[in-house]
Amino acid sequence: MADYSRLAPLYLCFERLIYRQALQRCRTAFLTELPASLLVIGEGDGRFSEAVRKAYPKTKLTLVEPDAAMREEGMKRSPESEKVRWLSEFPKEPHIYDALILNFVADCHEPEELKKLLQRTSPLLSHQKIVIVGDFFPEEVSNAPLRFMARALVKVMYLFFRLSAAVRVQQLPPTQALLKELGWTCSRTHSQWRGFIQAQWWEKKAPATQ
Ligand SMILES: C[S@@+](CC[C@H](N)C(=O)[O-])C[C@H]1O[C@@H](n2cnc3c(N)ncnc32)[C@H](O)[C@@H]1O
Repeated sequence: MADYSRLAPLYLCFERLIYRQALQRCRTAFLTELPASLLVIGEGDGRFSEAVRKAYPKTKLTLVEPDAAMREEGMKRSPESEKVRWLSEFPKEPHIYDALILNFVADCHEPEELKKLLQRTSPLLSHQKIVIVGDFFPEEVSNAPLRFMARALVKVMYLFFRLSAAVRVQQLPPTQALLKELGWTCSRTHSQWRGFIQAQWWEKKAPATQ
């Protein structure tokens, strides 16, 4: 099991050192369009929820973060309140959310784990069914030398996370292919770094009820 206790307080500094504001821009790419109730898996140190709270204090946030140190950092930015709920594990009650948020968390999963996570969360989403993914997509970089650099950076990041937080996953899962396989369609993207960093808005039509 990963352990972010050493990394959590420094997570923001490391991120800014390499990406400056790019990852936060990615997390908040769809901020103005977010629906009213969000399920956030792997909220980490709370910067997505902090941005949502500041812009839209009425939005209901359920933030799942299994790592205690990350949760502690996150709660400083987004304290628990009537609108903000932190959970250390997947919500048990059959609550319905308007959208699922996966910011830089799909990349912590093996393909099968990610598929299970997506299958598990889909029934928790309301009829409009929205998943917002923020992540690294090195294969989307069209320029070959830059794609090579993007792949190398991903390898360095995985090594860094293995050494600093014992993250065992070592390569990106095929997030887009899995979502498509499960019937999701990507309708919009916000792209940075030539497509390497993307926020993607995925939708799925709910099956018609009888
Ligand atoms: C790389 S960090 C990203 C955190 C944050 N979403 C961000 O944008 O910076 C991944 C986080 O996801 C959490 N995580 C990993 N697998 C998870 C899972 N299956 N369910 C919930 N959280 C998970 C980790 O504990 C970690 O805090």
